[in-house]
Amino acid sequence: MAKVSFYPSGKVGEIPEGTSVLDASEKLGIELRHDCGGFATCSTCRIMVVDGVKNLTEIDLDEENMLEEAELPNPFRLSCQALIEGDVVLQIPEPEMQWSKGALRELDALPLMSRALIRVIVEARARAGGEEVILPDTAIPAVEKAKSELDEIGNDPVVLAALVKEVCGIP
Ligand code: FES
Repeated sequence: MAKVSFYPSGKVGEIPEGTSVLDASEKLGIELRHDCGGFATCSTCRIMVVDGVKNLTEIDLDEENMLEEAELPNPFRLSCQALIEGDVVLQIPEPEMQWSKGALRELDALPLMSRALIRVIVEARARAGGEEVILPDTAIPAVEKAKSELDEIGNDPVVLAALVKEVCGIP
Protein backbone atom coordinates (compact mmCIF):
# COMPACT_ATOMS: atom_id res chain seq x y z
CA MET A 1 0.00 0.00 0.00
CA ALA A 2 1.13 3.55 -0.68
CA LYS A 3 0.25 6.77 1.09
CA VAL A 4 -1.32 9.14 -1.42
CA SER A 5 -2.06 12.76 -0.53
CA PHE A 6 -4.08 15.18 -2.61
CA TYR A 7 -3.96 18.96 -2.27
CA PRO A 8 -5.50 21.49 -1.97
CA SER A 9 -8.09 19.27 -0.21
CA GLY A 10 -5.46 17.60 1.99
CA LYS A 11 -7.18 14.21 1.61
CA VAL A 12 -4.85 11.30 2.34
CA GLY A 13 -5.36 7.56 1.95
CA GLU A 14 -3.65 4.18 1.68
CA ILE A 15 -3.94 3.01 -1.90
CA PRO A 16 -2.84 -0.34 -3.40
CA GLU A 17 0.23 -0.04 -5.60
CA GLY A 18 -0.58 -0.32 -9.30
CA THR A 19 -3.66 1.90 -8.94
CA SER A 20 -3.86 4.91 -11.25
CA VAL A 21 -3.85 8.35 -9.64
CA LEU A 22 -7.29 8.91 -11.16
CA ASP A 23 -8.69 5.78 -9.50
CA ALA A 24 -6.98 6.76 -6.24
CA SER A 25 -8.72 10.15 -6.34
CA GLU A 26 -12.07 8.43 -6.82
CA LYS A 27 -11.41 6.08 -3.92
CA LEU A 28 -10.74 9.10 -1.71
CA GLY A 29 -13.91 10.87 -2.86
CA ILE A 30 -12.14 13.53 -4.89
CA GLU A 31 -13.78 14.68 -8.09
CA LEU A 32 -11.21 14.95 -10.82
CA ARG A 33 -12.28 15.71 -14.38
CA HIS A 34 -11.51 12.93 -16.84
CA ASP A 35 -13.39 13.84 -20.00
CA CYS A 36 -11.96 11.10 -22.26
CA GLY A 37 -12.57 8.39 -19.69
CA GLY A 38 -8.89 7.64 -19.09
CA PHE A 39 -7.54 7.21 -22.62
CA ALA A 40 -4.84 9.90 -22.57
CA THR A 41 -6.64 12.00 -25.15
CA CYS A 42 -8.02 14.99 -23.23
CA SER A 43 -5.58 16.13 -20.49
CA THR A 44 -8.44 17.24 -18.21
CA CYS A 45 -7.23 14.78 -15.55
CA ARG A 46 -3.95 16.69 -15.12
CA ILE A 47 -2.34 16.84 -11.70
CA MET A 48 1.04 18.05 -10.48
CA VAL A 49 3.41 15.79 -8.60
CA VAL A 50 4.87 17.71 -5.66
CA ASP A 51 6.56 14.84 -3.83
CA GLY A 52 7.45 11.28 -4.76
CA VAL A 53 8.04 11.87 -8.47
CA LYS A 54 9.88 8.55 -8.67
CA ASN A 55 6.96 6.71 -7.05
CA LEU A 56 4.84 6.92 -10.18
CA THR A 57 5.30 4.83 -13.33
CA GLU A 58 7.29 6.56 -16.06
CA ILE A 59 5.58 8.65 -18.71
CA ASP A 60 4.81 6.47 -21.74
CA LEU A 61 4.48 7.62 -25.32
CA ASP A 62 0.70 8.24 -25.21
CA GLU A 63 1.00 10.35 -22.08
CA GLU A 64 4.04 12.19 -23.41
CA ASN A 65 2.21 13.07 -26.63
CA MET A 66 -0.84 14.35 -24.76
CA LEU A 67 1.24 16.37 -22.30
CA GLU A 68 3.09 17.96 -25.20
CA GLU A 69 -0.09 18.70 -27.10
CA ALA A 70 -1.63 20.31 -24.00
CA GLU A 71 1.63 22.20 -23.31
CA LEU A 72 1.99 20.71 -19.84
CA PRO A 73 5.60 20.39 -18.69
CA ASN A 74 7.03 18.61 -15.65
CA PRO A 75 5.71 18.21 -12.92
CA PHE A 76 2.32 17.78 -14.64
CA ARG A 77 1.11 14.23 -15.17
CA LEU A 78 -2.08 12.71 -16.51
CA SER A 79 -3.73 11.06 -13.53
CA CYS A 80 -5.34 8.38 -15.69
CA GLN A 81 -1.93 7.23 -16.96
CA ALA A 82 0.31 7.54 -13.89
CA LEU A 83 0.24 4.41 -11.73
CA ILE A 84 1.17 4.56 -8.07
CA GLU A 85 4.28 2.65 -7.00
CA GLY A 86 4.93 4.34 -3.63
CA ASP A 87 4.06 7.37 -1.50
CA VAL A 88 3.16 10.49 -3.47
CA VAL A 89 1.89 14.00 -2.81
CA LEU A 90 -0.18 15.52 -5.59
CA GLN A 91 -1.63 18.93 -6.29
CA ILE A 92 -4.81 19.24 -8.31
CA PRO A 93 -4.50 22.55 -10.20
CA GLU A 94 -6.73 25.29 -8.78
CA PRO A 95 -9.20 27.01 -11.13
CA GLU A 96 -7.33 29.61 -13.19
CA MET A 97 -7.39 33.18 -11.92
CA GLN A 98 -8.39 36.09 -14.08
CA TRP A 99 -5.53 38.04 -15.70
CA SER A 100 -5.99 41.56 -17.03
CA LYS A 101 -5.21 42.09 -20.72
CA GLY A 102 -1.87 43.73 -19.95
CA ALA A 103 -0.90 40.95 -17.57
CA LEU A 104 -1.84 38.27 -20.08
CA ARG A 105 0.57 39.81 -22.58
CA GLU A 106 3.39 38.85 -20.17
CA LEU A 107 2.19 35.28 -20.12
CA ASP A 108 1.63 35.10 -23.87
CA ALA A 109 5.20 36.23 -24.49
CA LEU A 110 6.53 33.07 -22.84
CA PRO A 111 7.44 29.86 -24.69
CA LEU A 112 4.38 27.60 -24.91
CA MET A 113 5.79 24.85 -22.71
CA SER A 114 6.50 27.15 -19.76
CA ARG A 115 3.19 29.01 -19.69
CA ALA A 116 1.09 26.53 -17.71
CA LEU A 117 3.68 26.11 -15.00
CA ILE A 118 4.51 29.80 -14.71
CA ARG A 119 0.81 30.54 -14.54
CA VAL A 120 0.42 28.10 -11.62
CA ILE A 121 3.37 29.64 -9.76
CA VAL A 122 2.30 33.25 -10.29
CA GLU A 123 -1.32 32.51 -9.35
CA ALA A 124 -0.37 30.54 -6.23
CA ARG A 125 1.74 33.45 -4.99
CA ALA A 126 -0.98 35.97 -5.86
CA ARG A 127 -3.61 33.90 -4.02
CA ALA A 128 -1.35 33.71 -0.97
CA GLY A 129 -1.08 37.49 -1.11
CA GLY A 130 -4.87 37.85 -1.19
CA GLU A 131 -5.08 39.01 -4.82
CA GLU A 132 -8.10 38.09 -6.92
CA VAL A 133 -7.01 39.32 -10.35
CA ILE A 134 -3.54 39.36 -11.86
CA LEU A 135 -2.71 42.88 -12.95
CA PRO A 136 0.37 44.03 -14.91
CA ASP A 137 2.02 45.43 -11.76
CA THR A 138 1.96 41.94 -10.26
CA ALA A 139 2.43 39.99 -13.47
CA ILE A 140 5.59 41.64 -14.77
CA PRO A 141 7.87 40.95 -11.77
CA ALA A 142 6.10 37.68 -10.85
CA VAL A 143 6.44 36.17 -14.32
CA GLU A 144 10.05 37.28 -14.49
CA LYS A 145 10.80 35.74 -11.09
CA ALA A 146 9.11 32.43 -11.93
CA LYS A 147 10.85 32.32 -15.31
CA SER A 148 14.30 32.80 -13.82
CA GLU A 149 13.60 30.18 -11.12
CA LEU A 150 12.58 27.68 -13.78
CA ASP A 151 15.59 28.54 -15.94
CA GLU A 152 17.82 27.81 -12.97
CA ILE A 153 16.12 24.50 -12.17
CA GLY A 154 16.12 23.24 -15.76
CA ASN A 155 14.08 20.09 -16.20
CA ASP A 156 14.90 18.35 -12.91
CA PRO A 157 11.51 16.87 -11.93
CA VAL A 158 12.36 16.56 -8.24
CA VAL A 159 13.43 20.20 -7.85
CA LEU A 160 10.49 21.39 -9.95
CA ALA A 161 8.14 19.40 -7.74
CA ALA A 162 9.67 20.97 -4.63
CA LEU A 163 9.15 24.48 -6.05
CA VAL A 164 5.49 23.77 -6.84
CA LYS A 165 5.04 22.28 -3.38
CA GLU A 166 6.45 25.40 -1.78
CA VAL A 167 4.46 27.92 -3.81
CA CYS A 168 1.23 25.98 -3.31
CA GLY A 169 1.76 26.08 0.45
CA ILE A 170 1.79 22.30 0.87
CA PRO A 171 3.27 21.24 4.23
S1 FES B 1 -8.91 11.30 -18.58
FE1 FES B 1 -8.42 12.11 -20.48
S2 FES B 1 -6.27 12.18 -20.47
FE2 FES B 1 -6.77 11.35 -18.54
